[in-house]
Amino acid sequence: MLIKRIAKQIMDAEWVARVVEVLDRRSDNRMTELGMLSQAFEFAKINEVPGDYFEFGLWRGKTFGYAHRMKRRYGRRDMKLWGFDSFQGLPATEKHPDNIWYEGQFACARPEFEAILASRGIRTSEYELIEGFYSDSLNDATHRRLSGRKAAVIYIDCDLYESTIQVLNFIQPYIVNGSIICFDDFYNYKGDPEQGEQRALADFMRQETHLGFIPYLDYAPLGKSFICRLK
Ligand SMILES: C[S@@+](CC[C@H](N)C(=O)[O-])C[C@H]1O[C@@H](n2cnc3c(N)ncnc32)[C@H](O)[C@@H]1O
Repeated sequence: MLIKRIAKQIMDAEWVARVVEVLDRRSDNRMTELGMLSQAFEFAKINEVPGDYFEFGLWRGKTFGYAHRMKRRYGRRDMKLWGFDSFQGLPATEKHPDNIWYEGQFACARPEFEAILASRGIRTSEYELIEGFYSDSLNDATHRRLSGRKAAVIYIDCDLYESTIQVLNFIQPYIVNGSIICFDDFYNYKGDPEQGEQRALADFMRQETHLGFIPYLDYAPLGKSFICRLK
């Protein structure tokens, strides 16, 4: 039990994830998630883009922790980190031959997630969590909770088409000129534009004509980011 707990604590330490990433030869010359977030925060600094950090899809907080590191590095004291997750893993997924996901995958209970953040020195005053499946949680009450907020950086890592389209429909009021939006799994499904996050963005762009998405950076094996523009 004790050994298991210690092993878990080691795996949850952010520096361990970074060391593994650096030692892993597959990361040679690769723009990682951390690199992407570093660029996004630098972009926000240069362009004086106001707002918070929104992340959809938290699992065990790897990218959320990276965003926190950037918040501190760039001295964005007023920036709140907003995390949205079911804390029960993925919802039921579409049947498709390329589908690698299953219901409940990436489950991490909220107390465990909060303990991971605490172990990384992330204070509770620095973040807010919105718990629940997006079909329930992305509602008017959440909009009221976010009232007056804007998003400088939005990180979408919820894998599925259905989840991503719900997120895109929800985040519109928080987008400003220069918001950076990152899709962690944009090129998933062997890059098929008819699936996943890529399909969700295409559908959203067809329906939402007052927003423009300027292609920004490709990162990690599957990610892509955009600069948002209000038309
Ligand atoms: C790949 S994991 C996120 C990985 C994380 N960003 C990291 O750095 O390790 C996907 C997450 O999306 C969440 N998720 C996906 N669809 C969701 C939905 N419809 N409602 C709530 N959470 C969802 C899952 O619970 C899971 O935690």
